[in-house]
Amino acid sequence: MPADIPTPARPAFGALARLWPFLAPYKRHMALAFVYLVVSSAATLVVPAAFKQMIDHGFTQGSGTTGGVNLYFLGLFGVSCVLAAATAARFYMVSWLGERVVTDLRSAVYRRMLGQSREFFETTRTGEVLSRLTTDTTLVQTVVGSSLSLGLRSLFTFIGGMAMLAVTSAKLFLITIGLLALVVLPIVVLGRRVRKLSRDSQDRVADASALAGEILNAIPTVQAFTQERYEEERFDERVESGFRSAMRRTKSRAILTTVVITMVFGAIVFVLWLGATAVIQGDMSAGALAAFVLYAGLTAGSVGAMTESWGDVLRAAGATERLTELLDASSFVASPADPVPLTIEPQGATVAFEGVTFNYPSRPDHAALEDITLHIAGGESVALVGPSGAGKSTMFQLLLRFYDVTRGEIRINGLGIESLSLEALRDMIGIVPQDTVIFSADAMSNIRYGKRDATDDEVIAAARAAQAHEFIERLPDGYKTFLGERGVRLSGGQRQRIAIARAILKNPPLLLLDEATSALDAESEFLVQRALDTAMRGRTTLIIAHRFSTVQRADRIVAFEDGRIVETGTHAELLAGSGLYARLAKLQFAA
Ligand SMILES: Nc1ncnc2c1ncn2[C@@H]1O[C@H](COP(=O)(O)OP(=O)(O)OP(=O)(O)O)[C@@H](O)[C@H]1O
Ligand SMILES: [Mg+2]
Repeated sequence: MPADIPTPARPAFGALARLWPFLAPYKRHMALAFVYLVVSSAATLVVPAAFKQMIDHGFTQGSGTTGGVNLYFLGLFGVSCVLAAATAARFYMVSWLGERVVTDLRSAVYRRMLGQSREFFETTRTGEVLSRLTTDTTLVQTVVGSSLSLGLRSLFTFIGGMAMLAVTSAKLFLITIGLLALVVLPIVVLGRRVRKLSRDSQDRVADASALAGEILNAIPTVQAFTQERYEEERFDERVESGFRSAMRRTKSRAILTTVVITMVFGAIVFVLWLGATAVIQGDMSAGALAAFVLYAGLTAGSVGAMTESWGDVLRAAGATERLTELLDASSFVASPADPVPLTIEPQGATVAFEGVTFNYPSRPDHAALEDITLHIAGGESVALVGPSGAGKSTMFQLLLRFYDVTRGEIRINGLGIESLSLEALRDMIGIVPQDTVIFSADAMSNIRYGKRDATDDEVIAAARAAQAHEFIERLPDGYKTFLGERGVRLSGGQRQRIAIARAILKNPPLLLLDEATSALDAESEFLVQRALDTAMRGRTTLIIAHRFSTVQRADRIVAFEDGRIVETGTHAELLAGSGLYARLAKLQFAA
């Protein structure tokens, strides 16, 4: 468990109540399932009574005709038919509910995750979220879609069975009750233990999946450093620990089952012995004893089924609790309740950093940016330069409001970005990030991610502008070529050009380029640069770059060092000075 998600000291059974909002829309289905449940339970209970009639009356007709017996058997078959139909209907309805609820639950959790801020994902492993989405929701499904109804059916059978036992033989029933009371105690005690162990074992499964998710994404690095054995051992350790935890749970459950079954059947055997004695002494009819045996069997079976279901319900309570934690996760960054509408500036967005200081949440004592004041006019292109770790990319993260500033304010078109809706803010920004992201889809849909409703022609035009058209055309299926997971079938420079095309397609008033051309050869860079020059017209552009060929085209250059702005000016002005920029330029030209 990562530290940020609070784990309640005692997992509460009440966690299941959180499933109610997911069940509530399906009240009609629940009612129907309940009706089928009642009918099938009732039919089950009628069977032994029919047997009693058959044994006591069917066989004692004595007239040699079989009419009576025929009727009883016909009746029995009729009851079986009702039982079959009601059971099937209940099964269908309840399974439907289970599948439906879990589908809704998965969507709800996923929706919640999509809205989480960077901070959430810095502290939560995606593998763990995935495991919760699959394993935990499946547990919930088991309960809603079967255990709960089995448990309810058993409960009805139990209650009905008890009642019928009482009717059949009051004396034997009272003795049975006394004995059954003894069974409840171990269920309660062991049930608690099962629940605790269940959460534990789920956590370990999540642990292992988180690790596998990370490592499978980094296979080339693992193999290049020949760390396969190490990774194998690490994974084994986690799954083994999951196994041990599961076995501890299973052991508790096995003990629970043993205790319950032994006690229940012990009681039954004892009661039967009493019954047999009563029949021999003529205090009870053979049919009544037969019915009693059947009812006792039904009742005992239902107790067994109830403990089974109870175990499942407890496991699901643990799972629901974990899912609830995800559902309750609130984003650290959120749109204001009453966002200010964004104004449009025709010559591109104006951007202002006003005394901005920022600490990453994971490093509260280290300022990644300190007292940054920077005003950028609409349509201006500004290059951010400086050594690695100076805080350049952090500027972009703040503009996109992936994090909120610690002090100061950022304004776009004169409006504080915290007063805008996140959607409006991010809609007006196009970014080519330092690490390009390619989805496992074809080239066309990867570029179209910048503007979902773009036509094929618009996509191709954007690809042309990003110098991506030619290499895409040469791929086996052109724009329909699958690029592999994370774009593994492309070179670094090709991935970058796809990302640039995506940003160009979005056509935003504010364009952020974070070393967008760093992986390109000089010629492609020149061509992409020219395309960007065209794209930059009528919009504001912030460019992070190390190569001076890129930097010197900007209207203004801002040099960063250790989270502070140390110089601003044009290429010529800064080069003439003796500051950071002149120093860096000298190094590069010397090379
Ligand atoms: N998510 C994060 N959590 C904590 N610290 C971070 C995080 N991202 C960056 N930092 C730290 O903030 C500082 C600035 O990082 P930033 O990514 O802005 O550097 P940069 O100027 O873009 O460097 P580069 O040229 O290498 O990309 C660095 O010291 C870095 O270690
Ligand atoms: Mg960076």
